[in-house]
Amino acid sequence: MYNVRKIKEDLLWIGASDRRLSLFENVYPIPDGVSYNSYLLLDEKTVLLDTVDSSVKEQFCENLQYGLDGRELNYLVINHMEPDHCSEIATIMRLHPETQIVCNMQTKKMIEQFFNLGLSDDKYKLIKEGDVLDCGEHKLTFVFAPMVHWPEVMVTYDTTDKILFSADAFGTFGALNGNIFADEVNFAHDYLSEARRYYSNIVGKYGPQVQTLLKKAEALEIKMLCPLHGFIWRENINYLVEKYTKWAAYEAEDKAVVITYGSIYGNTAGAAYVLASKLAEHGVKNIKMFDVSATHPSYIISEVFRASTLVLATATYNSGIFVNMENLLHDLTAHNVQNRQVAIIDNGTWAATAGRQVADMVATWKNCTLIEPRISLKSAMKEEQASSFDVLAENIVNGLA
Ligand code: FEO
Repeated sequence: MYNVRKIKEDLLWIGASDRRLSLFENVYPIPDGVSYNSYLLLDEKTVLLDTVDSSVKEQFCENLQYGLDGRELNYLVINHMEPDHCSEIATIMRLHPETQIVCNMQTKKMIEQFFNLGLSDDKYKLIKEGDVLDCGEHKLTFVFAPMVHWPEVMVTYDTTDKILFSADAFGTFGALNGNIFADEVNFAHDYLSEARRYYSNIVGKYGPQVQTLLKKAEALEIKMLCPLHGFIWRENINYLVEKYTKWAAYEAEDKAVVITYGSIYGNTAGAAYVLASKLAEHGVKNIKMFDVSATHPSYIISEVFRASTLVLATATYNSGIFVNMENLLHDLTAHNVQNRQVAIIDNGTWAATAGRQVADMVATWKNCTLIEPRISLKSAMKEEQASSFDVLAENIVNGLA
């Protein structure tokens, strides 16, 4: 049975959601699933904007068939070649051999890498940035957005209805529940954290490229944002654009503290809790704390993108940083975390070397400052170290001011 929603009289959402996949990109937990959005424009020409992941192929094909209602499919626009969106290109070209693929040169190369379609050159309508596809009433133009999140990415702008089909940009983890518009849900309360986790982990490394896209988008009048994952935005678009502006610039949203600890037998964790209590006594609210062995790094990365201040408390392990903390630090480095204040606590029974190594990693992060003192524990926190924790707590609090 088809499951289609009308966005406008001549524009349909024909995507689908998957709640069975446990790891997006085989990395990121998605306990609430994910949606793969695809859009069908029914003008004088019919235009399919991106396909879907193969996991929702059957639903997608039924939706497309219903949407076309017997018409030919004239164009398939490929904004992004990652397989969560492009998997069904081969299916479309088999079902609709009349279709011409609208894409850029780099996308064509990737299509040939992923598939053995044997398409002749005239099956491609190769476009350059700014080219216009005349569909009848609608004129589509193309804005290149390299590295948001792959090099071939482009976004498509409907100059007639002022709709930006934004590829991965402005997407959100989470299956759709019938509601496909952000104004149909309490987005800030229920979905912002998953939008942030999606952004920070999937696109977060590419802040400068996202900034470039935001700049290009500024020049467009945008009445609707149609991303490839999550909700469509037709109201209060600036709310999400402002979030993206901060995230892309690696600016904290909140003056807030995130405490992470990697603890083998609980002593490093205990010290992290002492610090948390001292911060709370100073009036710090909404402290977030994570055991790096218990929480997937994607959640912690997301919180680090939100908060101004990060505490890294870690045991020494194999003469290095405790393994799960080291993984988190590598991930934070890979995601280009910047502009944060960072406090470090380490622990070691005979040679606490982790703190130095954490500091060396943090030193590679742009515009991140260490909060003094760096505290080192020998097996467990002792009462005589309480004053160092007081000073650290005070310095953290001063940094929040
Ligand atoms: Fe949703 Fe980069 O693919």
